Amino acid sequence: MIKHAQQVAVTENATTSAATDNAASEHIAPAPRVSVQAFCETVESAAAVQAAGEDRRLAKAHVKIQMGGIAAASEAYRNSPTPNVILIETDARAADILGGLDQLAAVCDAGTRVIVMGRVNDVTLYRELTRRGVSEYLMTPIGTIDVVRAICSLFSAPDAKPVGRIIAVVGAKGGVGASTVAHNIAWAIGRDLTLDSVVADLDLPFGTAGLDYNQDPPQGIADAAFSPDRVDTAFVDRLLSKCTDHLSLLAAPATLDRVYDFGADAFDSIFDSLRTSIPCVVLDVPHQWVGWTRRLLISADDILVVAGPDLANLRNAKNLIDLLRTSRPNDHRPHYCLNQVGVPKRPEIKPADFAKALECEPVAIIPFEPQLFGPAANNGQMVAEVSAGHKTAEMFRQMAQTLTGRVELKQSRGNLLSPLLSRLKKRKG
Ligand SMILES: Nc1ncnc2c1ncn2[C@@H]1O[C@H](COP(=O)(O)OP(=O)(O)OP(=O)(O)O)[C@@H](O)[C@H]1O
Ligand SMILES: [Mg+2]
Repeated sequence: MIKHAQQVAVTENATTSAATDNAASEHIAPAPRVSVQAFCETVESAAAVQAAGEDRRLAKAHVKIQMGGIAAASEAYRNSPTPNVILIETDARAADILGGLDQLAAVCDAGTRVIVMGRVNDVTLYRELTRRGVSEYLMTPIGTIDVVRAICSLFSAPDAKPVGRIIAVVGAKGGVGASTVAHNIAWAIGRDLTLDSVVADLDLPFGTAGLDYNQDPPQGIADAAFSPDRVDTAFVDRLLSKCTDHLSLLAAPATLDRVYDFGADAFDSIFDSLRTSIPCVVLDVPHQWVGWTRRLLISADDILVVAGPDLANLRNAKNLIDLLRTSRPNDHRPHYCLNQVGVPKRPEIKPADFAKALECEPVAIIPFEPQLFGPAANNGQMVAEVSAGHKTAEMFRQMAQTLTGRVELKQSRGNLLSPLLSRLKKRKG
């Protein structure tokens, strides 16, 4: 990488046309649908990043630019989630760059990768940045293609971590509201966290995601599940229907003209492919216990079990969580939430009893609110669209944060000088 830093410096000294010629013959794989935010110090760099954002290889990425360098970035992320990639320009000296980055590290979420652009050409600084887990250092003045290359290579290097995180949502019993919860969380991930996400409706015969998002796409998940050999990123891309700026749907056919018996690995290639290109995939897993549902739950990055407050839900949630914990000894335990709590006159099992039996607290206790959920379901809207400031909409936003790993880290940002190392190192492939 040090060699690469020197190469960058050399490239910048070369004439622009030579640089462009080299770039034209260079193969740079396109970046997936990641969010990129740049904090520049100079208009020249801002212009280069802007032009990079218009490059075909960044066509799927969302690139936002603002001025103000490290200080503006640290300020911006104090109270809001960080994107997939942060580009920081600094005209400071080496010691100040490192100090500034340590402050930024304290407000960075897991998985965010950092590229630094600076004018210091110093191998020691470069080493320190690498040690802190900074993904790339670009010498200014930068060219458009340097920015394109730096962002794309974060995701295409052979050792790059896939960008996507898969969150599986399943009900402890049928009809408890698992799909509703999954759809609202995915919507909040797209809207409030501005992470590109896809909802995959795995309830092929009866799924309601199309209805909930008011979409009726001609294609969807069945096209991929029945043609596993054709599945690649471009193929899956064509099956997605766009719901909002940051949210797409892989819809269920919800027709009964055939049956949907699948082998355990029927969905492997679809989600391997989505994982490489979409930051967040939410699986709406139907309440069934067959080979492929078990496999999807075990292989997800995070799991949310939705339970109603009765005995059958408690037993099933416990069985599910115990099995998943045993099958995933090195993962975070599955989360659960209670839904439809407080139906008038209905005897219910208390959240405290759930917490005791399941050995952890629920991520949310969602009240039974037919006057809110009823219109949402019938009008093809999300809860936050029916009633924006509603407490329940805020719950979905918080669940979106928890499930994408964005809460714990914000809380642990007490130590302003904690090195980027632990967090940023993980990001590097
Ligand atoms: N907190 C709530 N208050 C009132 N109604 C709710 C609540 N949560 C979900 N619902 C309603 O409950 C019904 C069932 O929800 P949903 O289809 O999401 O459940 P599910 O667990 O996915 O069911 P299935 O097992 O059929 O897949 C829907 O009409 C939905 O609007
Ligand atoms: Mg459902």
